[in-house]
Amino acid sequence: MAKEIVLSGIRSTGNLHLGNYYGAVRNFLKMQKDYECFFFIADFHSLTTHPTPKDQHENVKSVLSEYLAAGLDPELCTLYIQSDIPEIPELYLLLNMIAYVGELERTTTFKDKVRNQPDNVNAGLLTYPVLMAADILIHRSHKVPVGKDQQPHLEITRKFAQRFNTMYQTEFFPLPEPFNFGKDLVKVPGLDGSGKMGKSEGNGVFLVDSAEEVKKKVMRAVTDAGPTQKNQEMAEPIRNLFYLMEIVSDPDTSNFFREKYNNCEIRYGDMKKQLAEDIIKITSPIRERILDIQKDNDYLKKVASIGAEKARASASKTLAEVRKIIGFRSF
Ligand code: TRP
Repeated sequence: MAKEIVLSGIRSTGNLHLGNYYGAVRNFLKMQKDYECFFFIADFHSLTTHPTPKDQHENVKSVLSEYLAAGLDPELCTLYIQSDIPEIPELYLLLNMIAYVGELERTTTFKDKVRNQPDNVNAGLLTYPVLMAADILIHRSHKVPVGKDQQPHLEITRKFAQRFNTMYQTEFFPLPEPFNFGKDLVKVPGLDGSGKMGKSEGNGVFLVDSAEEVKKKVMRAVTDAGPTQKNQEMAEPIRNLFYLMEIVSDPDTSNFFREKYNNCEIRYGDMKKQLAEDIIKITSPIRERILDIQKDNDYLKKVASIGAEKARASASKTLAEVRKIIGFRSF
């Protein structure tokens, strides 16, 4: 049987941090071995915030380099840039005809944007889910690994797929399922005491950070005055620090500090020093690769063109079928 198709898009904004690495990228690395995977950089989507041409290009370059450095393998998966695939905007146009303005306006992510950036409510934002549906349906994907914030978009994609199938009395599009990592789902906490790691300054450690930067950030992480009673319950910032340590360090290390905490002997400075060291052990080889890849324009060019070729082969097959189903025929 043919392998199931997995697809995920990566927005070309910001650098990869430890949260992305453990939360998403490491799962991609596993999936590329077991499924037919399409991973792409969603550079059309990033235009909703009007980046300068220079930033637009630089962002794509850095995301591509970082994913390659983290282990996405263009031999195992199809890794491409969305704007290299003209079949996607065409499918987007076609799907727009079966997308209703009302349902797009009701999408929670759209309502959030209207609230948070009332000065830039462009039509691209309204039809963002239609473009995302085109991304997913263009390869007739089965599984879409995305975070919780993207679930409404996946829901709408299923609706469009079903609507298309019903309208044209076909079963052409599979209804794509969210890909849940189950117990593999790792939520990485931030360094600012509460919540998960994000892109905000100080809360995240980026894969591209130098050893000095990692140390500085970890040493600045929020702690408290220390336990005063044995086996005292941990405050959230401390729990988070231990949780991070459990992710990046070996079990002996976190057990050692946990015991110190429970005996009221912990010195957070020592713990942070160890934590920084263990993070650097993971990030520094990736950082080296990022810097190497970014210097190697020929390699990036080759990766992008091989990816585009493979993605277009699949996309044009789907689009030709869709055109036929809709009734575009040549004379
Ligand atoms: N909207 C997604 C995000 O912000 C990125 C994305 C674009 C995507 N197209 C996709 C994700 C298709 C999964 C499938 O993270």
